[in-house]
Amino acid sequence: MAEKKVVIDVKKVCKTYFMEGGTSQNVLKNINFQVRSGEFVAIMGPSGSGKSTLMNILGCLDKPTSGTYILDGKDIASKTDLELAKVRGQTIGFVFQNFNLMMKRTIADNVSLPLIYQKIGEQERYKRAVEMLKRVNLQGYEDRFPSQISGGMQQRVAIARALINNPAIIFADEPTGNLDSKTSDEIMELFTALNKQGITIVLVTHEDDVADYATRMIKISDGCKVYDGLRKEYSKEKETKC
Ligand SMILES: Nc1ncnc2c1ncn2[C@@H]1O[C@H](COP(=O)(O)OP(=O)(O)OP(=O)(O)O)[C@@H](O)[C@H]1O
Ligand SMILES: [Mg+2]
Repeated sequence: MAEKKVVIDVKKVCKTYFMEGGTSQNVLKNINFQVRSGEFVAIMGPSGSGKSTLMNILGCLDKPTSGTYILDGKDIASKTDLELAKVRGQTIGFVFQNFNLMMKRTIADNVSLPLIYQKIGEQERYKRAVEMLKRVNLQGYEDRFPSQISGGMQQRVAIARALINNPAIIFADEPTGNLDSKTSDEIMELFTALNKQGITIVLVTHEDDVADYATRMIKISDGCKVYDGLRKEYSKEKETKC
C-alpha cells in the first residue's frame, strides 16, 4: 500500500519566549517530525516540557521562533494572520482542555460559530450544527445551554464545533484533562471513531490510558523530542537524551 501523504511537517522548530527584563527561555529545541494523513498521535511529557507550546504552533495559533512548519503543503511561517485564519478554518479543528464554550449561547450557536466567519446564513448554520451534534451523539440538545449539560457532553459539543468545517486534522490539548475516567473513555472512543473516518488526530495527554488509544507516541521532555514511535513499544529506556 502506498504511504499516505504527509500533512504535518515540522523541521528544526525552536520556540523561545522573551520576557521583560531581557531574560529568555528556550521552550522548544530543534523539534523534527512528520505526521501522515490518518495517523493518531499522542504527545506526552512532563508539565512545562513544551507540549502546549508545540500544539499552539501545530494548530497555527502561534509561530515558531525558527525552523519551518508545513501544514498540508503550506508553509505557515510565510502566512499573514488573515491567511493563517483561513488555513485554520479549512484544514484543522482544535479542542481544548476547558472546552472553551460560550456559556450564554445555545449549543447549536456554539457548534456553528466557525461558520459565521464564512458568512453562512442562520438557517444553514443551524442545520449544519444539528448534523454535527448527531455525529457526536448529542442529537436533541441544540437549544440547550452549556451549563445544562455534563462536562463530557460539553467536550462533545466542542468536538462538534471542531468538526463543522470538515477538517482533515484535529488537534486536542488535554481534551480529557477535566473529565473523570469513564467520561474520558467516551471522548477517546469518539476520537477513535473520527480517526477511523479518516481524520488525523494529534492530542496531548498526561494519562497513559488516554495515550493507549493512539497508535503513535511522541514524548517531549525539556523542549526536546525524546521518543517518537509506536505507543505500544514505548519504554523509558528507549528515550533519547535532550
Ligand atoms: N506565553 C508565554 N510566555 C513565556 N513563557 C511561556 C509562555 N507560554 C509558556 N511558557 C513557558 O514555556 C514552558 C512550556 O510551557 P507549556 O505550556 O508549553 O508546557 P506544557 O508541556 O504544555 O505543560 P502542562 O503539561 O503543564 O500543560 C513553561 O516553562 C512555561 O512557563
Ligand atoms: Mg499544556
